[in-house]
Amino acid sequence: MYLTRVLRAATAGLVAATALAAAAHTAEAADTLGSAAAGQGRYFGTAVAANHLGESDYAATLDREFTSVTPENEMKWDATEPTRGGFTFTSADQIVSHAQGRGMDVRGHTLVWHSQLPSWVSTLAAADLRAAMNDHITQLMTHWKGEIHSWDVVNEAFQDGSSGARRSSPFQDKLGDGFIEEAFRTARAADPAAELCYNDYNTDGVNAKSDAVYAMVKDFKARGVPIDCVGFQSHFNSASPVPADYQANLQRFADLGVDVQITELDIEGSGTAQAASYGTVVKACLAVSRCTGITVWGVTDKYSWRSGGTPLLFDADYAAKPAYDAVLAALGGTGGGGGGGGGAACTATYSTDAQWNDGYNGKVTITAGDSAISGWTTTVTLTAPQQVTAVWNATATWDGSGNVMTVEPSWNGSLAAGASTSFGFTVAKNGSGAVPAVGTCAAS
Ligand code: XIL
Repeated sequence: MYLTRVLRAATAGLVAATALAAAAHTAEAADTLGSAAAGQGRYFGTAVAANHLGESDYAATLDREFTSVTPENEMKWDATEPTRGGFTFTSADQIVSHAQGRGMDVRGHTLVWHSQLPSWVSTLAAADLRAAMNDHITQLMTHWKGEIHSWDVVNEAFQDGSSGARRSSPFQDKLGDGFIEEAFRTARAADPAAELCYNDYNTDGVNAKSDAVYAMVKDFKARGVPIDCVGFQSHFNSASPVPADYQANLQRFADLGVDVQITELDIEGSGTAQAASYGTVVKACLAVSRCTGITVWGVTDKYSWRSGGTPLLFDADYAAKPAYDAVLAALGGTGGGGGGGGGAACTATYSTDAQWNDGYNGKVTITAGDSAISGWTTTVTLTAPQQVTAVWNATATWDGSGNVMTVEPSWNGSLAAGASTSFGFTVAKNGSGAVPAVGTCAAS
């Protein structure tokens, strides 16, 4: 919801002075991954390693392009609880505070996973393991309570191949299938504001493994086990390319009533082939309304976990690759390789919401044209002696006559192609029954 700004004044002149002083908003051009994705109502994130934050090119690229971060290793069990009850949050805190200082979201990764698990965990007997798992979830989620957009509560709990079975792990082997449900219930209690995700790989298309995850999520939803999203890691290469039914698979999960997120995207390759695959993934996400964001698994090929495959959007010198241009174009951005942007347009339509003896509430609906927009402005002209006494969901400034108000978003003016928003205002009729005139809508 847009920030509500209510203006009250005895005269239009006073309103003008107040509003002019307070109105400060510059629409951002959608020329970065983050701003273009925001124009589509999505975040665009990256995995981040705390030990690279001090490298200026790394930090500059991160800060310019991305609106969400996932600590690549710093929140994993071996990093956060290397000995039982001995919690260390320093490296992850560094990433969280970097993100918070720049308005980025944070994905928490990951609470319960068979890998990067300290050996003390696997030596525990069932009752103790259960207590340790729940304590680990509670301690981490409490430490960052209210600060994490989504948590990967359980990671990679299913086997590859055709069995559809659970993967062997200390949790699976000692606690049985129920450990996943228990982890999600513990997580909900620890931080009710965080979206709780199940995350996995080789589940990107429709196959036996994704069928098994699908059945679990369906069962969770039917029984009220708290789950909000499913993460699709999406690590691709020539042996494991973007599946043809990628979008259909995202959609069938979304249809279960969960958000879907692309959580660890990287695609080995180079040039136009790599770019095309990236474009396919982004378009698939945009075509699924519950696909809320995309995270690539690293800022630069230089530090990729599989850097030999050069799978990311920036090369080792932080130059944007063709894959970057393809992603930006698919997001409707205006920079990079071009081909995406242009044609920012919007319409503004007026309706009267409520009327009473000496006043009325007007409503203006702003609708983006065929491409996403990152900002808009329009005018509303009143007939004297009518006076506006309040404006909400937008910021208004008045001309000298006090009859024409120019209206713009109070903060984020991004709208996806064809999407609408509205603002409203209260008018004192002062004896005039005239209907306000709405000017043309200008988009950026
Ligand atoms: C990887 C990291 O990128 C590496 O730095 C680390 O050595 C191993 O883990 N699936 C996941 C991620 O969920 O946590 C993994 O990250 C990649 C595969």
